[in-house]
Amino acid sequence: MSNEIKQRKVEHVNLALERNISVPQHANWGDVHFVHQALPEVDLDAIDTSVLFLGKKIRYPIFISSLTGGHPDVLTINRNLARAAEEYGLVLGVGSQRAALINPDVADSYAVVRENAPHAFLLANIGAPQLIPQARHEPFTLEQVQRAIAMIQADALAVHLNSLQEAAQPEGDRRTVGEATALRQLISQLTLPVVAKETGAGISREQALLLKQCGVSAIDVGGAGGSSMSALEAARSQSRGDERTEQIGLLYSDWGIATPISVVEASLARLPLIATGGARSGLDVARALALGATLVGMGFPFLKAASESYEKVCELLDSLIEQLKVAMQLSGANTIAQLRDADVVVTGMTREWLTLRGFEEELKAMAQRRWRRFQAQVTPQSIDAERVQIVQPL
Ligand SMILES: Cc1cc2nc3c(=O)[nH]c(=O)nc-3n(C[C@H](O)[C@H](O)[C@H](O)COP(=O)(O)O)c2cc1C
Repeated sequence: MSNEIKQRKVEHVNLALERNISVPQHANWGDVHFVHQALPEVDLDAIDTSVLFLGKKIRYPIFISSLTGGHPDVLTINRNLARAAEEYGLVLGVGSQRAALINPDVADSYAVVRENAPHAFLLANIGAPQLIPQARHEPFTLEQVQRAIAMIQADALAVHLNSLQEAAQPEGDRRTVGEATALRQLISQLTLPVVAKETGAGISREQALLLKQCGVSAIDVGGAGGSSMSALEAARSQSRGDERTEQIGLLYSDWGIATPISVVEASLARLPLIATGGARSGLDVARALALGATLVGMGFPFLKAASESYEKVCELLDSLIEQLKVAMQLSGANTIAQLRDADVVVTGMTREWLTLRGFEEELKAMAQRRWRRFQAQVTPQSIDAERVQIVQPL
């Protein structure tokens, strides 16, 4: 099994880079519009993009999503990502550490991350299916989980939820009964925070509340609309001539809750949220933050850049940050807290879904945040030009 997992790690990276495994959704970032502020009173160069995440100050609200490790060929990718996380003060995840727990020879492809990012906020990574007995393996022990955490001196542990990927994987784990109980028990035995992380199918309101009950400290909604692990497994199955799982992977490649929807749904749990899945620009980052995310994760764009060079990762970050700042200025936000309080109008499929799911009032409130603050400050009689100036900026 150890070689099988090691091989899968490098296949995932190569296929993601060679094939198009991105599966856009009808409900997506284009449905989320800021209300433009013609007199924003925000200087681009004075914008503060820092956020607090699980008690630590993060310079930019960007998460370099959990991607890889477990094979010597991917060590450089992790090193490039880590150097950038250190330079920009970001949160960075490593890919599933199962490979190194089974085969300690590949631990250095993960440990390289802490070596190159001594101050960054690092997320260790294990899978929820490995917390329960499966047909082909026993659950991880607490000692193994602690080894994964120690391997990168992690600040938090991400437990990935990937039932769809496992179902589309020829050798995938087929059981999920008991995952919530196992997660709750694991969290009660650990001292560091645990982040529940979907991997492309999203988190609903009800599942977010269940995760909160399990004791997670944050949720990465890992919604649909970007890299599809189902499409990735379909490509793997195709290259191995396994038609059965290829069909499943293709059929379910657009399954799931789109990321912007998932952010709104999961925000009812009132936990720090990471919005990963299909964000491709600084404007998408701004949209996710305005919907309620604390951080915005990106996988494929960082994988591609890091497979080229450290400089490419920096170029990507520079342009994301520049784009984010423009969205902040034009929506009148000097800080991320103000951006999260900016007016956003949600339309299209995203609105349709959220309305049917009972979020109509939340959508109206998001579209009228500034107006409602304005109304709270100004009585109808006092709305004249002079008063409006006094109460600005809202
Ligand atoms: C090649 C590849 C490998 C991945 N491996 C993991 C993993 O081991 N653990 C995990 O939690 N997520 C994993 N992911 C999911 C990403 O963290 C992220 O959720 C996904 O890529 C969606 O973001 P994107 O649309 O920006 O790419 C992987 C994604 C890709 C493309």
